[in-house]
Amino acid sequence: MIKKSLICCTAVAFALSLAVAGASLAADKGPAEMVMKTAEGKKPAKFPHKAHQDKLKCADCHHGKDAAGKQVAYTDALKIEKCDSCHNDKMANTNLNDLKKAAHKNCKDCHASQKDKPNLNKCNTCHAK
Ligand code: HEC
Ligand code: HEC
Ligand code: HEC
Ligand code: HEC
Repeated sequence: MIKKSLICCTAVAFALSLAVAGASLAADKGPAEMVMKTAEGKKPAKFPHKAHQDKLKCADCHHGKDAAGKQVAYTDALKIEKCDSCHNDKMANTNLNDLKKAAHKNCKDCHASQKDKPNLNKCNTCHAK
């Protein structure tokens, strides 16, 4: 399903980009496909970024922080950074102070909530063998 909608949306995006060529600069959407890894790299996770962007809002996953270290909501002006530039051992909240914890809270909580797709939260959905 994801693959089909990807191809279809790529075609639409291409047509749109022709239509508005030169008129506006698209925001940086990052890579379409990613393999995420901690520094140790023990369990790489595949992440079809574009397929998620097509269904979700940037704000469902991206946010920033203010000078006091508090989370601030995503806006189009936000400079998007790697999760572990904030979710690292300097973060006070020990439930979120590394990439695995932040990613599992974001990715797994949403996957677990998709009751019509019980396999979505299995380890090997993200950590292919
Ligand atoms: C389902 C969650 C999710 C959604 C929705 C999402 N992203 Fe991402 N995005 C990520 C993750 C995870 C990364 C990888 C971060 C990392 O490597 O630490 C990423 C990386 C990026 C990067 C590269 C950042 C870097 O420094 O390498 C950009 C740019 C980006 N996203 C833009 C967007 C935009 C714009 C949208 C909305 C159109 C969006 N993303 C929607 C999860 C998401
Ligand atoms: C600029 C700093 C920064 C970046 C980059 C960042 N976060 Fe966060 N994040 C925070 C802060 C600050 C909090 C609040 C921590 C607390 O409540 O103690 C937070 C909270 C969270 C939470 C719990 C609250 C919620 O919104 O569900 C999750 C999950 C999370 N981040 C995941 C991610 C993921 C995944 C990425 C990368 C796509 C990311 N964060 C990138 C700073 C950041
Ligand atoms: C807010 C909800 C949400 C978040 C956050 C989210 N996902 Fe997903 N993800 C989905 C949904 C829904 C699907 C299924 C889409 C479909 O079947 O059409 C999916 C599909 C996938 C798939 C493809 C599964 C398959 O077999 O087709 C992978 C891999 C995946 N997500 C990894 C991740 C990772 C890694 C993260 C965190 C960086 C993440 N997702 C964050 C909702 C989410
Ligand atoms: C929805 C996607 C998703 C699911 C499901 C998921 N993970 Fe992850 N997991 C990630 C992401 C993203 C990371 C951070 C990047 C990386 O190292 O893979 C991660 C990191 C990890 C790490 C840290 C790896 C390291 O190098 O330190 C372990 C261990 C891990 N996951 C185990 C599991 C196990 C066990 C399950 C099943 C019970 C599971 N994960 C299910 C997405 C997922």
